[in-house]
Amino acid sequence: MKTFQTVRWFVDKNEKNLTNHPQVIQASLWIKKDEVIALPTETVYGLAGNAQSDQAISRIFESKGRPSDNPLIVHISNHEQLEGLVSSVSESAKKLMNAFWPGPLTIVLPKGEQVSEKVTAGLSTVAVRMPDHPVALALIEASGVPLAAPSANLSGKPSPTTADHVYEDLKGRIPGIVDGGSTGVGVESTVVECTRNVVTILRPGGVTQEDLEKIVGSGNVKVDPGIENKELAPKSPGMKYTHYAPDAPFVLVDGSAEFIQQLVDNERRAGKKIGILTTEERMSVYKADTIIPSGKRSQPETVAQHLYEALRSFNEAGVDKIFGEVFPKTGVGVAIMNRLEKSAGGNVVKE
Ligand code: TXA
Ligand code: MG
Repeated sequence: MKTFQTVRWFVDKNEKNLTNHPQVIQASLWIKKDEVIALPTETVYGLAGNAQSDQAISRIFESKGRPSDNPLIVHISNHEQLEGLVSSVSESAKKLMNAFWPGPLTIVLPKGEQVSEKVTAGLSTVAVRMPDHPVALALIEASGVPLAAPSANLSGKPSPTTADHVYEDLKGRIPGIVDGGSTGVGVESTVVECTRNVVTILRPGGVTQEDLEKIVGSGNVKVDPGIENKELAPKSPGMKYTHYAPDAPFVLVDGSAEFIQQLVDNERRAGKKIGILTTEERMSVYKADTIIPSGKRSQPETVAQHLYEALRSFNEAGVDKIFGEVFPKTGVGVAIMNRLEKSAGGNVVKE
């Protein structure tokens, strides 16, 4: 693999005229050379390359160690870029674009003739989204092409929500990172298939099922059964991989704080260093070697926002095992629990 001295381009997302920002231009020059760079979006950092360049696409897969059967999302900055990218747009897709773009909703549509098989991993559909981040939009504009971008983590690790996280994972593997500060939503976009008028959720995310139902009607939103049921193949290839895993084994506990404390005490008596993933409200009720809160339980959006950062901080703490609390599977809680269950590799203990 090619190696680089990974530079950092600082860009304040509140500045005006970002498309002509010198640091954005620097980054876009690498895109024009068919190399890949990291960029901030409103969900997580992405690893971006020219969606029309086979070399750039190969570099994306190579630098994050991604299995080649897992397709990429193509990021656009305006609706005209859909031309050639998709072959048709259903009525429901149009409504969703109007309601949620720019924003954390990825729409899977029949692919257009301009899209390389490498981007879609051979599928006849392509995933598209318009990110709600001024720096991401400016970089797409400055590059002049749609950008294919998976999350900018090494395959299997939690997705990056800061430029530091990207640097940890990809230092030396990419020429640079556009640092636009912390991302907002914290979990990846909701992925929906919209090839027909029924909308199927393939990956839960920042846009909730309730949000979608408000736009297309409650009878028109389905959830891919492959997300929860391990016997079925998920329709979104990425959902079958182990993901978001901290270095130490992670166990989700569906039980009271007392029950979690008992599990922790048993392990600590055996000499193990134990971490607990909790929320601000419950931080002080536990005794353990490392206690990390991810936002406030009373505000689930803040839990989503800090989740990956919290999972990553257990690595620095060097714990032997981590116990984590569960959340109600409603609203953004569905996405939070989806990521936690993946990061625990299905390891859930019930009281
Ligand atoms: O928020 C996000 O979506 C971030 C930022 C960078 O935009 N990107 C992201 O990309 O999470 P990635 O590659 O980590 O996840 C993309 C997901 C994978 O689960 C992949 O399998 C699915 O989207 N996907 C991509 N194309 C698809 C398609 N044609 N059909 C079904 N699923 C698809
Ligand atoms: Mg990812």
